[in-house]
Amino acid sequence: MQISLFYLVATLALGLNASAKKTNGTCICSNRALERCLIARSVPFKVRCDSDWEDYSRTHNLRLPVTPAAIVVPDNSRHVSAAVVCAGRSGVKVQAKSGGHSYGSYSSGGIDGQVMIDLRNFNETVLSGNGTNIAIVGGGVRLGPMATAIYEQGNRAISHGICPSVGIGGHSTHGGWGFTSRAWGLTLDHIVAMQVVLANGTVTRASPDVNPDLYWAMRGAADSIGIAISISLKTQAAPQEVLTFIYEFQTILESVPKSVSALMGIQGYMSNSTAVDRRLSLLVQTTVNPDPASGTVSKSLVVAGIFMGSLAEFSSHIEPELLRRVPDAPTARDVQSHNWIDSLARQSPDGTLDGAPESLDFFGNSATIDSPGLTEAAATSYFSYMLDGPAPPVGFESSMELWGGADGQIGLAAKNASFAAFPHRDVFWTAHNRAQAAPDVPFPDEGVAFLNGLRDAIVETLDVPTGAYPNLLDTSLTREEAHALYYGDEVLERLRRVKAVYDPRNIFWNPQSI
Ligand SMILES: Cc1cc2nc3c(=O)[nH]c(=O)nc-3n(C[C@H](O)[C@H](O)[C@H](O)COP(=O)(O)OP(=O)(O)OC[C@H]3O[C@@H](n4cnc5c(N)ncnc54)[C@H](O)[C@@H]3O)c2cc1C
Ligand SMILES: *[C@@H]1O[C@H](CO)[C@@H](O)[C@H](O)[C@H]1NC(C)=O
Ligand SMILES: *[C@@H]1O[C@H](CO)[C@@H](O)[C@H](O)[C@H]1NC(C)=O
Ligand SMILES: *[C@@H]1O[C@H](CO)[C@@H](O)[C@H](O)[C@H]1NC(C)=O
Ligand SMILES: *[C@@H]1O[C@H](CO)[C@@H](O)[C@H](O)[C@H]1NC(C)=O
Ligand SMILES: *[C@@H]1O[C@H](CO)[C@@H](O)[C@H](O)[C@H]1NC(C)=O
Repeated sequence: MQISLFYLVATLALGLNASAKKTNGTCICSNRALERCLIARSVPFKVRCDSDWEDYSRTHNLRLPVTPAAIVVPDNSRHVSAAVVCAGRSGVKVQAKSGGHSYGSYSSGGIDGQVMIDLRNFNETVLSGNGTNIAIVGGGVRLGPMATAIYEQGNRAISHGICPSVGIGGHSTHGGWGFTSRAWGLTLDHIVAMQVVLANGTVTRASPDVNPDLYWAMRGAADSIGIAISISLKTQAAPQEVLTFIYEFQTILESVPKSVSALMGIQGYMSNSTAVDRRLSLLVQTTVNPDPASGTVSKSLVVAGIFMGSLAEFSSHIEPELLRRVPDAPTARDVQSHNWIDSLARQSPDGTLDGAPESLDFFGNSATIDSPGLTEAAATSYFSYMLDGPAPPVGFESSMELWGGADGQIGLAAKNASFAAFPHRDVFWTAHNRAQAAPDVPFPDEGVAFLNGLRDAIVETLDVPTGAYPNLLDTSLTREEAHALYYGDEVLERLRRVKAVYDPRNIFWNPQSI
């Protein structure tokens, strides 16, 4: 049978179109100085008067609509450069938009009245034919089309997130986790160079040899530092065969002890270097959906992942050992063998890699959990909150996404704080919590407090360091809290120094930027 990984995303993806703000009467465009500057430099842009404004300005997160002063739609680096200069002269802030999947609508500026630079025309992916297999990817390319292009051009692959409509621009510069990250690292770890537009409009290169400070800072905090119009990534040979697996356990969540035993069992298995290696990766996802009509709550636990090996090896060595760690038998099982590109499509909510943009009404947060992972007490606190805690005001899902474990490559010693401005390396799990309103129902305010309670239930009982993952940005954090959780002191201090050199007037700004 086919089981969908992302219940909420898959079933609610049709609830579009709730947010676009109406302008009343004649269109007074908001920032004349800005518009004159853009027109004088022949920079293409959209404002509220334009008939296609709603298409350009709709945010991925419908909970947080934002109305920019202008949306620049550049065709080339000169346009990006001129737009940044015009914004600086007009006293407004700038954010680039790649896939637009920011949890806080930060690519729209995060607050009204700023400039969005929509990189949709930087849409090419070219795999170098000179034997280096470097992929040069435009700053506005989405993950699905990128993966398809590098596979078709040369049978190559990189690691990246599961959702094909996420953009490479935000994803790769703030981490980028997927099932192959245990084998190949984060998306960020594939970056070898970038073409960057700076706050003063200069277009420059960032690589280990050219502007190394810029290269360091762009890989972790690009939103605060510059605009990557093109990103060069090293690639991997696409594996011949990839097993995708999804198990559903409907009875586990009947009790907290059984749920704890399942998660701790899987954690123990994934920590055992005799049993597993980097080819195996997974997440453990709990979904809880209250049905106000019937007063009931549906719950399910899913274990899903990939194994980059043969079906024979999976069936004989992996599956029995994995399932032995879980107290109940799965109520549904779906194991499929694919080539690389079909394995990605299998994980996508709509079964394709088209990467068509969509919008949802949601709140999310995250907690990184360092190795060796959860204690029994922390896992008990986690499941007690979800199963016996406060009544959920909104449907939610919580995924324990595996970053560490035996033979994991994300945390290699060389990837320390001097490697990139991304400090989360010794992570075992990243808890990814998302609550999402049903179609046509506004997201309830209590949903934010509820989900933060879930995060607190995890972190308050941990005995390992914890932080938050900047790609799953949490809009309820203050700037200071965000900096501490995303970056920590050592990285933050250096980021401030780099920011002072490359963006002294703080042009690249959002509510949590450096
Ligand atoms: C449905 C969904 C599924 C997801 N799944 C995963 C997953 O499996 N794994 C994972 O790790 N994450 C996942 N994420 C989180 C995702 O990685 C982040 O939201 C990411 O930042 C989105 O990138 P984007 O380019 O689409 O977003 P955008 O909103 O375009 O950008 C996000 C931020 O990056 C900045 N930015 C964007 N492009 C550039 C650029 N070219 N140069 C400089 N700054 C730029 C923006 O200004 C903004 O501040 C998911 C998010 C969603 C909504
Ligand atoms: C990039 O965008 C242009 C203009 O919309 C379009 O003609 C072209 O086909 C796109 N290329 C890719 C690879 O999507
Ligand atoms: C190969 O091509 C890539 C991408 O064009 C380029 O960055 C790299 O310098 C080239 N390497 C050699 C050895 O020519
Ligand atoms: C680790 O895995 C090996 C091989 O499956 C097994 O023999 C051993 O008992 C496991 N160790 C632990 C601590 O579970
Ligand atoms: C960080 O890693 C580099 C290698 O990339 C190494 O030279 C350096 O000593 C490491 N620094 C620390 C503090 O471990
Ligand atoms: C733009 O900023 C960069 C980085 O600070 C600097 O090296 C460069 O000289 C500046 N260019 C101009 C024209 O001021």
